[in-house]
Amino acid sequence: MKMDYNNMLAERIGPEGIPINALTALTPQIEKATRAMKEKRPQMAWRDLPYNQAQIVKDIQAYTAQMKPQIDAFVVLGIGGSALGPLAVQQALNHPFYNELPREKRGNNPKLYVVDNVDPERLVYLFQTIDPTRCLFNVISKSGSTSETMSQFMIIQAMLEDKLGKEAARKHIVCTTDPESGNLIAIAKKEGYKTFYVPSAVGGRFSELTPVGLLPAAFCGIDIEGLLEGAAQMDAMCQQDDIAKNPAHMFAALHCLGLAQGKNISVLMPYADSLKLIAAWYGQLWAESLGKKYDLDGKTVHTGQTPVNALGSTDQHSQVQLYAEGPYDKIVVLIGVDEYRETITIPNTYADMPSLGFLGGTTHNQLLKTMQTATEYALTKAGRMNMTITLPKVTSQSVGQLLYFFEVATAFAGELLNINAFDQPGVEEGKDATYALFGRPGYEAKKAELDAAQPKDSQYVI
Ligand code: PA5
Repeated sequence: MKMDYNNMLAERIGPEGIPINALTALTPQIEKATRAMKEKRPQMAWRDLPYNQAQIVKDIQAYTAQMKPQIDAFVVLGIGGSALGPLAVQQALNHPFYNELPREKRGNNPKLYVVDNVDPERLVYLFQTIDPTRCLFNVISKSGSTSETMSQFMIIQAMLEDKLGKEAARKHIVCTTDPESGNLIAIAKKEGYKTFYVPSAVGGRFSELTPVGLLPAAFCGIDIEGLLEGAAQMDAMCQQDDIAKNPAHMFAALHCLGLAQGKNISVLMPYADSLKLIAAWYGQLWAESLGKKYDLDGKTVHTGQTPVNALGSTDQHSQVQLYAEGPYDKIVVLIGVDEYRETITIPNTYADMPSLGFLGGTTHNQLLKTMQTATEYALTKAGRMNMTITLPKVTSQSVGQLLYFFEVATAFAGELLNINAFDQPGVEEGKDATYALFGRPGYEAKKAELDAAQPKDSQYVI
């Protein structure tokens, strides 16, 4: 993986860029953050995942080998960090129309469905699509208490028990959760469900390389050892003290400097369909980790950058107009690949029409790469901060590298911003209000608070 940040710099893009001396001036904070990353490494249990899961990988492989012949579909019930990673890795590494392929063309692996919402239409339509008695349902919840996931679980459990009886239903549920705390582990033990664990010290959005992501990936034939190998390769690069050799630290430093210059939006724009959902996964990681009211000294900072996911070249025809000519408030990160996994040639059909003939005999590979180069040029010419990450090819190793790269960048940005990148207090108010409105015991005071809130004025409702 290569990262080119030329176009972040004022020397290339003009006054809206980062002056190189601003990067130099950040050296004390960078050194402090680099030290903190080392000192806090024991608390960042996600950093050890590439090294300490050999037995877990074996268990996953044994379990998938045993279960695959018994099922047609693997269904993930999870949300946020318990769904975005499995979705992103599946899209990156498997056929884009995976579920529509006949089984033998899927490597004899089951279909994959990820149910990450409680829209009532979703489960009903899923039940119209699958035969639940030929499915394995993977309930993924680190906390074991998320209302969306746990309610889905209760619906599926009741349906399976109704159709199959309690004993047979048990084999259709596998849990992924914290080994000690939460409702799900208690239920899994009581009911005797097969269970994989998310280490207690690994938070939801940093959990893709635990069984949260490894189990669904293994069921879909993805090389999970390759993912972990890639993460280990990136870890080696990210341990460099010299920021000029450390892509994740540099990515974070440039984004923090950009933020200080009013670049409040972080756009991730892969030029590969396979990486589209990596941008969605990054969106959660960057937003939930860095969007914070208080810093570590208790000062009100209201910091963070709003992530936006785009896709090249699709969004050249929607959002790029805004990126090039709208407010100077974005950093655009383009992700390219040296080599696409397939090649498709454009026929020379209209050689006599110069405005179409130039396409003939070239490939979509060349066209998409050229469009990326052209977008980079247009953004640079317009004085917009942009940078490029290039993967040699989308493989399990390079995807493992990319995931780990963004995780380290997020943690390092947290250090530079002096905030806790691993909590999410801003999510709590909405969760508590839901519990109160839904009558969960213990939330009576919150319910009273909601009841006492100023009623809406009907004159402002049309
Ligand atoms: O990053 C996080 O902690 C969250 O986005 C969680 O992943 C999300 O809320 C789901 O939580 P859980 O896995 O506990 O059900």
